[in-house]
Amino acid sequence: MTTYILGIESSCDDTSAAVLRDGFLLSNVTASQAVHEAYGGVVPELASRAHQQNIVPVVDAALKQAGIEREQLSAIAFTRGPGLLGSLLVGVSFAKGLAASLGIPMIDVNHLHGHVLAHFIKESPLPAPPLGECSVEGTEEAAALKHSPKRGAGRGLSFPFLCLLVSGGNSQIILVKSYKDMEIIGQTIDDAAGEAIDKCSKVMGLGYPGGPIIDKLARQGNPEAFTFSKPNIPGYDYSFSGLKTSFLYSLRDWLKEDPDFIEHHKEDLAASLEKTIVDILMKKLRLAAKDLKIRQVAVAGGVSANTGLRNAFHDYAKRYGWKIFIPRFSYTTDNAAMIAMAGYFKYLDKDFCPMSAPAYSRVSGDLK
Ligand code: KG4
Repeated sequence: MTTYILGIESSCDDTSAAVLRDGFLLSNVTASQAVHEAYGGVVPELASRAHQQNIVPVVDAALKQAGIEREQLSAIAFTRGPGLLGSLLVGVSFAKGLAASLGIPMIDVNHLHGHVLAHFIKESPLPAPPLGECSVEGTEEAAALKHSPKRGAGRGLSFPFLCLLVSGGNSQIILVKSYKDMEIIGQTIDDAAGEAIDKCSKVMGLGYPGGPIIDKLARQGNPEAFTFSKPNIPGYDYSFSGLKTSFLYSLRDWLKEDPDFIEHHKEDLAASLEKTIVDILMKKLRLAAKDLKIRQVAVAGGVSANTGLRNAFHDYAKRYGWKIFIPRFSYTTDNAAMIAMAGYFKYLDKDFCPMSAPAYSRVSGDLK
């Protein structure tokens, strides 16, 4: 029997809905919220109000694009957490209402699992389509996946693998043992990588979110122009608050000498900042891969859109024989396709959640 999963994502400022048929993506519709731009960051109350406005048309559009009626759905997968509670509540309540009215099971998804499992999204039941930015392709795998969805999305990815999850709220090295067993072996002890980029961009008076702006400027700058402090902490953990302070203080001193310093050097500043962050991220990732003797290395989350980081992955693949997995741009930021994918894994195990399952804003410990 054909399985249709509706995925719903509303953990932050993107309202997204996607439909999978037997694990293959039919639609992925996202409404982003421009309302936050004026504030230089996400305003939680505005985010939840926008989700309320967007959720019905977004789900409707996802069903229409998929060419199915809601009565055909087999289950609804939704982001239960972590994220902004008010935002999550909109998606969770909507999922519950729709599941109850259709009499179908609900599947709760940890948002971070979604990011990691985005690598398993398959886009066509036919032999592997061109995989865009994905670095590893394999038509044989794609055909195999049709019958075995727990294998990598036509890209040869199998468990275990390491995943660097880098976003506005997370910087983690995750040992992915199975679709539900993920061990965080390293994480930031203060700011996330994306948060550091966004804050430095704000200090420079650039727009929000800073990541894409810094990325664009960095392409025209010299990454060796400036040096910023790098953390020195043990193990696989990260720290980005020192870098942020170093960036702020250096800029303050340079601005005393030249009030137009930022305008004159913004490309070099962006390139040097990006290089410092990428170096920090890759150093620990390499250490973990070496210690654990794992060569399949993936990257996920909003910052995985970064050109410098993607280039570094390709460079490490050549240098250390890594088999790398880089998501398509559309799956780097928050999207419901990844939630539906994670939901599909759980659906196959009949791992459903009760109607009483509440949203949660934080996770503690490993990614259960
Ligand atoms: O995963 P994500 O969409 O959601 C949150 O964690 O909220 O990640 C958003 C983060 C932001 O910090 C944004 O600046 C960063 O991802 N980002 C980038 C790029 N595109 C988005 N950072 C660096 N380079 C990019 N091209």
